[in-house]
Amino acid sequence: LAVLERLWSELAIGREGTIVAFGGGSTTDVAGFAAATHLRGVRWIAVPTTLTGMVDAAIGGKTGVNTADGKNLAGAFHFPESVVIDPDLLSTLPEAERRAGMAEVVKTGLLAGRQVWTLPEEEMIHTCAAFKAGVVLSDPYETEGRRTILNLGHTFAHALEAGSNYTVSHGEAVALGLLAALRLSGLPTDAVEEVLRPEPVAADPDAAWAALKRDKKGEGVFVLLEAPGKPVVATVPDADAQRALESLIRK
Ligand SMILES: NC(=O)c1ccc[n+]([C@@H]2O[C@H](COP(=O)([O-])OP(=O)(O)OC[C@H]3O[C@@H](n4cnc5c(N)ncnc54)[C@H](O)[C@@H]3O)[C@@H](O)[C@H]2O)c1
Repeated sequence: LAVLERLWSELAIGREGTIVAFGGGSTTDVAGFAAATHLRGVRWIAVPTTLTGMVDAAIGGKTGVNTADGKNLAGAFHFPESVVIDPDLLSTLPEAERRAGMAEVVKTGLLAGRQVWTLPEEEMIHTCAAFKAGVVLSDPYETEGRRTILNLGHTFAHALEAGSNYTVSHGEAVALGLLAALRLSGLPTDAVEEVLRPEPVAADPDAAWAALKRDKKGEGVFVLLEAPGKPVVATVPDADAQRALESLIRK
């Protein structure tokens, strides 16, 4: 919020101006929201510099900031004029950030039913970006529920992040969340294990379960896969969901 206030007061552009957001998902989220709100909305262009940004965060028009009450509680749908993706920008990205991005790549591959993680890097990034853009454009303002599939593995991931007091990184949590989603789908987990190598993490099982139950998508509803490339929204009995969550937590 402090960054946003500074942007509002220091931006020296009028309504005809364009904001260029150059950075990871944190930057494109806040700069996109500044663009949505500065003078009631100016144009913006996203230039993601992380793998997560290139395959996910910079695409889809969701902008926002965290408030004291939680993540992304203030935000707007405000689509960038364009998303400029230059994989060369990844040359300086730390390994941990790259791994976090690969979790979203594997998620995309499972949703698309393609082993996108085996593609050369540039093609992998463009394939993932195009997949997300396709889903988003079929439901730009999330009124039809089609964007829900993009949450594959994320209900468990958010629960692990909250249950560990945010000591578990988002990338690690998404990798484990994908494992749980595949197990509940009755599908092989080898792609996630080979590419992301997730290990159970330290988290408070009760706090993680409480966070999962609070999840905004409603009780017992998860994105699962009938098969790779065939996402479904399914109801999972509490006992099964809790067992799946606990299998991700170090004993
Ligand atoms: N709007 C959406 O649809 C959406 C989707 C997914 C994630 N997100 C948001 O994105 C954020 C995570 O984004 P992220 O994973 O890109 O992390 P990030 O933006 O927090 O960046 C991670 C770190 O990498 C550094 N960095 C960025 N680019 C670099 C480069 N090229 N070389 C070296 N260092 C670099 C940053 O300074 C930062 O320290 C979260 O806040 C999440 O909520 C938004």
